[in-house]
Amino acid sequence: MIDKNSFLKKLNTDIFGRHFYSLDTIDSTNRYALELARSGKPQGTVVAADYQTGGKGRLNRSWISPPGKNLLFSILLYPQTTIESAQKITLGAAVSVHKTITRLLADLAVKDYTLEVKWPNDVIANDKKLCGILTESVLKNNRIAALVMGFGINLNMDPDEAGVDLASGVISLKHIAGKEINRQNFLSAFLRQFEADYFDMEKQSYINVVAQWKARSNCFGKSIRVNTGYGLEDAVFYDLSEQGFLMYKTSDGTIRELAAGEALWQ
Ligand code: BTN
Repeated sequence: MIDKNSFLKKLNTDIFGRHFYSLDTIDSTNRYALELARSGKPQGTVVAADYQTGGKGRLNRSWISPPGKNLLFSILLYPQTTIESAQKITLGAAVSVHKTITRLLADLAVKDYTLEVKWPNDVIANDKKLCGILTESVLKNNRIAALVMGFGINLNMDPDEAGVDLASGVISLKHIAGKEINRQNFLSAFLRQFEADYFDMEKQSYINVVAQWKARSNCFGKSIRVNTGYGLEDAVFYDLSEQGFLMYKTSDGTIRELAAGEALWQ
């Protein structure tokens, strides 16, 4: 379990993580953080757990992670904006994860790796999944009453420890860095980065997020199969819209937008 006192001593943020719940086992840190939102806990409250018995992934999938190896945490946010910006805040969070990893690997003088963000909210290293983000919101009158953003970041697990849903195509930072990654230090570095990025995004009305995300993505021109909810369609990743939605080109050249749903990468 992350030791709360030593974590708070290291943490150099203004508000992110200052209210910190470190749990041994919970069903889902997102579910718990949503409960904290309902009881009015402050912005930046973080819930971290060593193990989740009902970890949630996107599209009703489960998120399985062995006890004590990776980072499983959720952060509670009250962004002053409409629901249209929720997608961009998630893209921004993926950018912050990307920046944190890039800095850590630079400090460790690790050079031989690739790192990219992948729509909608994954971070991919050496073509394998390193981090997934699940954003859940509480809405009121078309505005965001609260946002819970949950992060599963593979720090130290070995490939054979990945659960069934994650069995293929996952990687952990340890395997790129060649050494164990300290969970407390990583979480603290990430929260500092994300806090700065989050308030910058808010100040700039979320206009730079899409460009920042695009600069770290390798998706453009890649073949995808889009699950629109009505069926599967072969397409090419074309662009990211102003709102952060996926724009894809179908085989007859039509360009369409996908807000939610799923893009299966070929
Ligand atoms: C994805 O499908 O890629 C998103 C995975 C998000 C997993 C994290 S782990 C911590 C937090 N609590 C959950 O139940 N899910 C998120």
